[in-house]
Amino acid sequence: MPMIRETIVTTMDGAGTVHIAPLGIIADGEEWIIAPFRPSTTLDNLRATPFAVANYTDDVRVFAGCLTGRSQWSTAASDNVPVPRLAGALAHAELAVTRITEDAQRPRFHCRVVHLAQHAPFRGFNRAQAAVIEAAILASRLHMLPREKIDSELAYLETAVTKTAGPAEQEAWDWLMEKIRAYRDGADVSS
Ligand SMILES: Cc1cc2nc3c(=O)[nH]c(=O)nc-3n(C[C@H](O)[C@H](O)[C@H](O)COP(=O)(O)O)c2cc1C
Repeated sequence: MPMIRETIVTTMDGAGTVHIAPLGIIADGEEWIIAPFRPSTTLDNLRATPFAVANYTDDVRVFAGCLTGRSQWSTAASDNVPVPRLAGALAHAELAVTRITEDAQRPRFHCRVVHLAQHAPFRGFNRAQAAVIEAAILASRLHMLPREKIDSELAYLETAVTKTAGPAEQEAWDWLMEKIRAYRDGADVSS
């Protein structure tokens, strides 16, 4: 299995509107593959503007925020691509699409790294951050996963949040739990 890094990917449409989304980028030698499911804004944007930025951040509120309607995160101009980067990223990689492997469900955009920059140091692992990332993935798949699986995984992940979260991790976790509750309330009403 190839290595996947969970990043915040910035892309841009033909009119210059920036889109921010959490995506796992897939290692492919010196290159990275971005594989957005259809339909998605990231997919449309990569076709309109064949550049992206992979933003490496430990602010897990960006991951949780993008999934809960909080997508207004500050951006800054990139150095060598037209797509802006996340202003608060620890580091970022500027990517140019070199080719596309078409697929009915999940086209793959092969990207070359044209520029890499570091802005702040990596400060070590934090279990609550990892737990928020896992919970964000669960929250993005509520319609696909059985409720029991989601509940048992959340119960396990919550221990790491209770023991090791700082305020940002706790806030991100709370946004995700609020979304899951709202989804279930809606589902309960319709069932
Ligand atoms: C950690 C993480 C990794 C994700 N990786 C992917 C991915 O590789 N491909 C994808 O289509 N969606 C992925 N998602 C879900 C997208 O972030 C979400 O569906 C998003 O809305 C993409 O659609 P958009 O471009 O229309 O915003 C991921 C979510 C999380 C939290």
